[in-house]
Amino acid sequence: MLANVRGIDSTTALWYASRATGVVALLLLTAVLLLGILVTRQGRLPGLPRFAVTGLHRNLSLLAVAFVAVHVLTAVTDGYVNIPLTAAVVPLASPYEPLALGLGAVSLDITIAVIATSLLRRHLSRRVWRAVHLLAYASWPVAWLHSITASSDMRHGWMFALAIGTALAVVAAVIWRLAAAARDVPRAERVGLLMSAVHGAHGRERTTRR
Ligand code: HEM
Repeated sequence: MLANVRGIDSTTALWYASRATGVVALLLLTAVLLLGILVTRQGRLPGLPRFAVTGLHRNLSLLAVAFVAVHVLTAVTDGYVNIPLTAAVVPLASPYEPLALGLGAVSLDITIAVIATSLLRRHLSRRVWRAVHLLAYASWPVAWLHSITASSDMRHGWMFALAIGTALAVVAAVIWRLAAAARDVPRAERVGLLMSAVHGAHGRERTTRR
């Protein structure tokens, strides 16, 4: 047990550690999501080679999971309120703030599924891996709602500004990505028209030669 230094005992230290790691985990998950949304279909970001983007995505995800793990373990170990370890993965299993912590558990479950399928990727079809991986997009709003509901501090002052900032960044990235996709559709249609025109001309040429 930590000595009581300047008014901070072990329970308070665990509580601060849990809160700090929770905030860092949310920021890291936001960065992972933004990277996923902004990356183009070829897996590139302007100015970065493909392997760098993939590496950044993987390392940020693993770092986020490490912070979530410490966040959960410190929340469970801190004896001030009763949070069983099962509450980390089973929604509504916590007598303390069941709904808020349930959202955290759902987000963690999705994250575990995404990591497990990524580790087993070679043994899975691309369709299954992709379907589970897309769930990662759902885990972010759930983690965000958990953060806002589990902590009253996150609903006031600079922490609230931080939470709103992450949400605005995600919304802006989604809008940017949708606009880019909309620009791509007419281009794809143009390519389709060009291809059929080329095939048509080629077909006519063969018919006239015969
Ligand atoms: C992806 C998963 C998760 C993320 C990103 C996350 C993030 C956060 C954030 C940002 C906060 C607010 C911290 C603050 O007040 O300064 C928080 C609060 C909290 N989280 Fe999580 N969390 C996650 C999962 C979980 C899980 C599974 C549990 C269950 C044990 C949990 C337990 C708590 C508790 C008890 C609080 C309230 C701390 C307080 O009293 O202020 N979290 N979380």
